[in-house]
Amino acid sequence: MSDRTPTPENTAFATQAIHAGRDFVGETGAVTPPIWQSSTFEYGNPNGFDYTRSGNPNFRLLDQTVAALEGASFCTSFGSGVSAITAIVSTLKSGDLVVAEENIYGCTFRLFAQVFAKFGVQIAYLDFTDDESLAKLADLSPTLVWIESPTNPNLKIIDIQKAAEAAHAAGAPLLVDNTFASSYLQRPIELGADLSLLSLTKYTNGHSDALAGAVCTNSEKWQEKMIFAQKALGLQPSPFDCWLTQRGAKTEAIRMEQHSRNALAFASHLEENLPNQTVRYPFLPSHPQHEIAVAQMKAGSGIVTADFGLSLEHTLAFVESLKLFPKAESLGGVESLCCHPASMTHAAVPKEQREAVGISDSLVRFSVGIEAVEDLIADVEQAFASSQS
Ligand SMILES: Cc1ncc(COP(=O)(O)O)c(C=O)c1O
Repeated sequence: MSDRTPTPENTAFATQAIHAGRDFVGETGAVTPPIWQSSTFEYGNPNGFDYTRSGNPNFRLLDQTVAALEGASFCTSFGSGVSAITAIVSTLKSGDLVVAEENIYGCTFRLFAQVFAKFGVQIAYLDFTDDESLAKLADLSPTLVWIESPTNPNLKIIDIQKAAEAAHAAGAPLLVDNTFASSYLQRPIELGADLSLLSLTKYTNGHSDALAGAVCTNSEKWQEKMIFAQKALGLQPSPFDCWLTQRGAKTEAIRMEQHSRNALAFASHLEENLPNQTVRYPFLPSHPQHEIAVAQMKAGSGIVTADFGLSLEHTLAFVESLKLFPKAESLGGVESLCCHPASMTHAAVPKEQREAVGISDSLVRFSVGIEAVEDLIADVEQAFASSQS
């Protein structure tokens, strides 16, 4: 493996996704890598593998692929997106302050509030779409700045370049959770971020059959810290999950094009045809940060949120009536899914705080898959009609 077939230079994303890291071929000529289902490696092997907690050929192949897709020099993969978050926060010490976008993923919020707070890592929240709020960043002297774009679930779009400039002016690195956008649609490192974090479980894998996470960076120092965290904290992925995720990544470009096309048609239909709704989708002109979305993303990705102004009871009845959108926490697979954030992904966030950032009881999040979009639209229509009766 050390005698690597280099990733073809100057090739497009779709080519890199298929060819990056093709250094497993060896003497067999296999065009698909095997799964190195081995916990341990014989001492003195030329690639320096010793024990799977600190490295495995399947991790290395996935790392090479994801780094190429993110346009980053380095990538370290982890057992899940939350493991990747844990790896980053494990580099902090008591008294350090993370300044985060106020609408972050519920489990990130919970990790800071219920786990890392006990170790003295502090967190403060700002609205990164608001210039007055962003101006407070430097006064807070953060150790690390943490954003998502689009955010989960409100789909706020943060200007990554502007956030990077503000973080650097405050003397802190910027981390972008790129899970909702995907590497195909948005490359945070090229926009000035120091760290791009992914739940590979979502769009990179794309088939809802494995868990993995990653941190990408151009910084050798951060890369060393990530490799250390992977082995010292036991945050490694499994070889099989890496294999599945790498297989999924091969079709990321074509899937993300279709997710985005479907989601735009779906969101436009909801906005134009259903009563009393607020639909959020970054590539709809009605989105408050539409111009930023169009400037920093290739397309709008597959997540649409809608608030139909229904009571909690009617909202839950609507979600239960959907036939092609199983109610599920995750997102980013080829199949459509639906989530009620207030009772599911963001149940860990206290109600007042949830409502303050716009996660009302009537908010519904759709992960729009790659099925025929007319079937998805017909399903929402019938669910809406039956929840009214
Ligand atoms: C934005 C975001 N970041 C991180 C994660 C965590 O990823 P995982 O479920 O792979 O641990 C999720 C999961 O939904 C997410 O939506």
